[in-house]
Amino acid sequence: MRNIILFLVATGFTASAIAVDIKNGDTLHADNCTRCHDTSVYTRANKRVKTLPKLGTQVRMCKDNLGITWFDDEVEDVTGFLNTNYYHF
Ligand code: HEC
Repeated sequence: MRNIILFLVATGFTASAIAVDIKNGDTLHADNCTRCHDTSVYTRANKRVKTLPKLGTQVRMCKDNLGITWFDDEVEDVTGFLNTNYYHF
């Protein structure tokens, strides 16, 4: 039992399961998402994403194009990061 708790704490499982982790989203985004476009696509006048659910869909599409595997909560972290800093839905 003690080992299981240590494992959960060590992997950050307890924190990320409870709330969107904007800081983690920032890190994931910086590491994976600035190769094809910079952050100006999120704020340009004719931006395509107009709702929060669409933002989640777009994050998934770009992630799938990259061929990277993220858990749902990692997609939510990045979506939360983009919404907090750029989209403000
Ligand atoms: C393989 C290249 C590529 C990578 C890597 C990539 N994207 Fe994209 N992304 C695109 C293209 C192409 C568009 C569409 C740009 C356009 O419409 O002019 C786009 C658009 C977007 C938009 C919509 C912008 C708008 O108009 O509102 C979001 C949000 C986005 N990407 C998020 C991400 C995230 C998050 C990641 C990291 C997982 C990522 N992108 C990585 C190619 C990429």
